[in-house]
Amino acid sequence: MKKLIFFLLASFSLCFAKNELFSDKVISLYQNKDDTKVIGRLLPTNAFRIVKTEGDKLLLEISGFVNPKAPSVLYFNDYQRIIVAAFSKNAKLHFIKQSKGKNGKWNRASIQMWADKADFAKSDKEMLARASSLYTENCGICHTAHKINEFTANAWPAVFRSMADRTGIDKADRWLVIEYLQKNAKDFKKGK
Ligand code: HEC
Repeated sequence: MKKLIFFLLASFSLCFAKNELFSDKVISLYQNKDDTKVIGRLLPTNAFRIVKTEGDKLLLEISGFVNPKAPSVLYFNDYQRIIVAAFSKNAKLHFIKQSKGKNGKWNRASIQMWADKADFAKSDKEMLARASSLYTENCGICHTAHKINEFTANAWPAVFRSMADRTGIDKADRWLVIEYLQKNAKDFKKGK
């Protein structure tokens, strides 16, 4: 019995060791807990961690890569324009640099920002499946749906946006579909 309890506890803590959460919606970000001015947005399907909860606000930690030439965006990997979070240009941002990108690649960094309390998913699996059906159901009506690996990660946002208004895809779901398309693009590589 003792062994079983130990085993259950161990597997429980392993499952939640990373504490990663995901949202299928865009999350508004605030610099300070009581700010009402939104200074950034965290885009769907990108992992984040809750550092602490205060009242109806959460302090989130978001990680990614920063291009020193465009330091108001956190990207998913170290060379493609797949946005994790974007901030207003004049915001004073305190990125915590974790490592310097080699050979002109972008730096790995993280940032902490406040957000409103909400329910988040522990996995991105279901939201990615939903994005996939949104894509095939809506983008295959007038012509056969283009293969996702037909375009590069940097090309997909413009291709998608040029067609999005011809579809029934809700505005609230558009970033979800864009992120899904970019992360399955022909030249997609995960950041190291
Ligand atoms: C209402 C019909 C319709 C829907 C829905 C539609 N398309 Fe198209 N698509 C077209 C037509 C018509 C063309 C031919 C070029 C044009 O009209 O711009 C086209 C062309 C394209 C092209 C060829 C490149 C180009 O710009 O010429 C791509 C790629 C494409 N569509 C992707 C998509 C994606 C992705 C979606 C879903 C977001 C989508 N389409 C939804 C009608 C549609």
